[in-house]
Amino acid sequence: MRRTSIRDHAWLYPILSLVLAVGILLAFGLTWWHALAVTALLGCPLVVLWGLIFSWSQPEPGSELAPETDGVTIEWIAPFYDRLCTLLGLGRAFRRQILEVAALKAGERVLDAGCGTGVWTRLAAEAVGSSGQVIGFDPGPTMIAIARRNAAREGSRATFELAAVEELPFEDASFDAALLSLVLHHLPAEVKRSGLKEIGRVLRPGGRLIVVDLDQSNSVLSRIVLWPLSHIGSSADTFDGKIPIYLREAGLKPVTVEGQWRKSLTFWRAMKPLSSIASVETPFK
Ligand SMILES: C[S@@+](CC[C@H](N)C(=O)[O-])C[C@H]1O[C@@H](n2cnc3c(N)ncnc32)[C@H](O)[C@@H]1O
Repeated sequence: MRRTSIRDHAWLYPILSLVLAVGILLAFGLTWWHALAVTALLGCPLVVLWGLIFSWSQPEPGSELAPETDGVTIEWIAPFYDRLCTLLGLGRAFRRQILEVAALKAGERVLDAGCGTGVWTRLAAEAVGSSGQVIGFDPGPTMIAIARRNAAREGSRATFELAAVEELPFEDASFDAALLSLVLHHLPAEVKRSGLKEIGRVLRPGGRLIVVDLDQSNSVLSRIVLWPLSHIGSSADTFDGKIPIYLREAGLKPVTVEGQWRKSLTFWRAMKPLSSIASVETPFK
């Protein structure tokens, strides 16, 4: 277990800010040398100060210890995560489509695995109403701190916990539905396997898992834009279309494709069989 804070990354924000300042000056027509000189002489102190104030103004994670995971957490992006999603076209409409596929009903108990800043978790909490319950979890302390702050601001009933999908602090068969949105490509193969088994354990028989993630893309544009990701260890197999194989291997079936988002993300639904003796497939090579 470890305890990290956004302030551990404080050094990163002044550097990002300086790069941004040089970029803006270049866009205004200055030469490289002039842009670097102006940033260094005039902009540096202000930009460094802004970067430090920015990182110190982020919510401080509580005293809970963060779980160790081999999954890729993106703590340093947490303060910008929601804006980045909107910029990438993953705003409210995207979250609403997930909600449609999940078809949540009033009174259901729902898990948002790897919830990040909890945007969908809060929408799901509205959908299940006061008789239901939605819990989001993530191993990133800053993500969880931001999720809790935003839920408190909106008066949302969603709650958040620090946890990793490979070791869930929840009872067997205690959820009607679970979501893994944009998480599987952050997990190495072994963590994908153990995480999906854990989700299968906490889903009730007949419960459903909704997965949204990268897939074998049909669109040339998204193949070009996402090309670097297809070469990173944890995401390469998602580009090879292996998510349904992992789901079935964890005993979650049938697996159905429920839609796509802009020809680059696929929505799957995988069921936990009603029979308690779910057949678990042999791992693929
Ligand atoms: C791209 S974000 C997706 C966040 C959110 N689900 C969404 O749709 O916006 C990926 C998230 O996966 C989380 N993650 C990484 N390793 C994990 C693990 N072992 N268990 C659960 N979540 C993990 C990261 O901390 C990060 O918040």
